[in-house]
Amino acid sequence: MLAWVPSGSPDEALLRQVDFERLPAHVAIIMDGNGRWASSRFLPRVEGHRAGIHAVRDVVESSARLGIQVLTLYAFSVENWKRPASEVSTLMMLLKRYLRSELDTLLRNNIRFRVIGRPEALAPDIQQELADAEARTASNTGLIFNIALNYGGRAEIVDAARRALVEGVKPDDLDEGRFASLLYTAGQPDPDLLIRTSGELRISNFLLWQIAYAEIWFTDTLWPDFRRRHLLEAIVDFQKRDRRYGGIGQPALAR
Ligand code: IPE
Ligand code: IPE
Ligand code: MG
Repeated sequence: MLAWVPSGSPDEALLRQVDFERLPAHVAIIMDGNGRWASSRFLPRVEGHRAGIHAVRDVVESSARLGIQVLTLYAFSVENWKRPASEVSTLMMLLKRYLRSELDTLLRNNIRFRVIGRPEALAPDIQQELADAEARTASNTGLIFNIALNYGGRAEIVDAARRALVEGVKPDDLDEGRFASLLYTAGQPDPDLLIRTSGELRISNFLLWQIAYAEIWFTDTLWPDFRRRHLLEAIVDFQKRDRRYGGIGQPALAR
């Protein structure tokens, strides 16, 4: 594990602090701040999205190597259609380019690529590209990499309720476990760690059901500057927390 970080680097020092027995099973990230990253350099907003791809690459590969089970990246919300059409189309173009250039890396790292959201509203060529990446990585057994596209937490809950009706689920059979099995993330553990970059302290309609007991880690770092080091910092911080789930927690129990 230490072989892939330069010795003497901050990453190595952080990696030594990680308890691999207690990794978060699922890490979810609200990738924010691309526009501000670009503006601060007097560049058009889309340059921030372009630069953000380097962060995506780094985080996906690092998560796979660390042995995290599920990584979910929030790439485009149902609300993001409010942006100028030119920004939306550049985002879609970058997504397509990312998929084409990274598919080999995903395959090499045994990563399973999945889309969550309502991809049916995306352009046909993008849908095709996404379906192809999902199909080609479907039998991989390592990291599950969910990309949230045209995703909304409320939309997901509505979609699950619709499915329950369509499938004729009886009211008495509908409990939290059954409901979770109707969500886009069916079968996956809930996020243990939710990261948001760029200093914004909000959820922005992300994984509303699944984050019920997630530990949240906010950073002022803008998404294009986010790297393995920040992910490791978040994990080390996460491992210091006492997750009580409404109970009295570990230190109190030990007393
Ligand atoms: C996040 O960066 C990327 C997407 C939402 C697609 P933003 O584009 O929201 O950047 P800021 O928040 O305006 O800086
Ligand atoms: C959240 O970021 C959505 C994604 C990261 C895809 P936004 O930039 O859209 O969120 P708000 O508008 O600041 O809440
Ligand atoms: Mg933003």
